[in-house]
Amino acid sequence: MHAVVLVGGFGTRLRPLTLSTPKPLLPIANVRQLEHLIAHLSTAGVTHVALALGFKPEPFFEAFPDGMCAGVQLHYAVEPEPLDTAGAIAFAARDAGITDTFVVMNGDILCDLDVAALVAFHKAQGAEGTLHLTPVDDPSQYGVVETTADGKVQRFVEKPAPGESESNVVNAGTYVLEPSVIDRIPAGEKISIERVVFPSMVADGTLSAMPTDDYWIDTGRPDTYLKANLDLIDGSRQSILSSIGANAHIDASASITHSVIGEGCVVGAGCVVTDSVLLAGSVLGDRVRVERSMVMGSVSDESSLQDCVIGAGVVIPAGEHLQNARVPDPEQKS
Ligand code: GTP
Repeated sequence: MHAVVLVGGFGTRLRPLTLSTPKPLLPIANVRQLEHLIAHLSTAGVTHVALALGFKPEPFFEAFPDGMCAGVQLHYAVEPEPLDTAGAIAFAARDAGITDTFVVMNGDILCDLDVAALVAFHKAQGAEGTLHLTPVDDPSQYGVVETTADGKVQRFVEKPAPGESESNVVNAGTYVLEPSVIDRIPAGEKISIERVVFPSMVADGTLSAMPTDDYWIDTGRPDTYLKANLDLIDGSRQSILSSIGANAHIDASASITHSVIGEGCVVGAGCVVTDSVLLAGSVLGDRVRVERSMVMGSVSDESSLQDCVIGAGVVIPAGEHLQNARVPDPEQKS
C-alpha cells in the first residue's frame, strides 16, 4: 500500500528549532520523528511512502540517501511552490503514480492508531475518504467533526462556542483516500484539504470518520514537541519503547519498535524489528523483517520472520520467509 506523508510545511510554531531542521526531521527520543511515523505505517502494510516536500527538501535527501526509511521505499515529490495540504497531496500522489486506495498522514503526528483498522473501516464503509478522529479536552480551540451513528461525517464546526456542538473529536491528521479524491484537486492549485476538499465530500455524502482514544499527539508546538519526547522516555507509550544492549550496532536506517536488542547484536540497513527479542550476539543482515520473534542466531539479507524462534548457531539464508517456525525444530530427533 502507498502512503503520502505531508512534510512541506514551514513549522513556524516550532521556531527556532525549525530554522535549522525541518519539523519531521527533528528527533523524538533520538530517532527522527519521520522514522517513528514511517515505521508505524510499515506495520500496517505500507511499503511505499511519497514525501510531499516543499520548503527545504535537501535535508530529507541527506537524511535518507538510499531512498529507504524504516524498510519502506521513499519517493520524493518536491512542489515547485507551496500548494497547501490538498494541493500537496494531489501533487505527490500524481508524481508517485498512485492509482489505488492510499493513506495520508501529516508529518507532525505521532500516534498508536491501528492504521490497518482505519483502512478496513474505510473499505467496510465504501467511503471515498475516511478521517481518523481523536478526542480533545477543550473543543473550542479546534475544528470539531460531527458524525452520524453509522460513521458518516455530517459537518465540521470550527472553534465551537459552548453548546454549539456536542462533538469533542477533531481531525487527527491521518486519512484513507480513494484515488478519485485526487481528481477533485486541480493540478498546481493551492487548496486546503481540511477547508475545501473535505467539506465538498461531506456535501456528496462520501466522507466517513473513525474515532479512537489511543495515544495521539501533534508535535508541532513547543509544549507538545517536548511532551512527545518525554512520553517516550517515561513509558506513556509502551508500544514503541525498546531496550538496546551495550555494543549493539544498529544501522541508522533500521527501525526498532517495542523490542529488546541484546548485547553485541548487529542490525543491518533497512531492517524492521517489531515486538521481538534479539538475544545477545544475534546478527540481522540488510532489509530483514522480524515480527513477534526471538532470535539467537543469524538472519541473512531480505529474509523475514513472523512468530519464529531461532536458536543459537543457526543461519537463516537470504530471502527466506518464515512464519511460526522453530529452527532447529525441537520435535526433530537429530
Ligand atoms: P506551522 O507553520 O507551525 O503551522 O506548521 P506547518 O507549516 O507544518 O503547518 P501545519 O502543521 O498546519 O501543517 C500540517 C501538515 O501539512 C504538516 O505535516 C506540514 O508539513 C504539511 N504542510 C502544510 N502546508 C504544506 C504545503 O504547502 N506543502 C506541503 N508539502 N506540506 C504542507
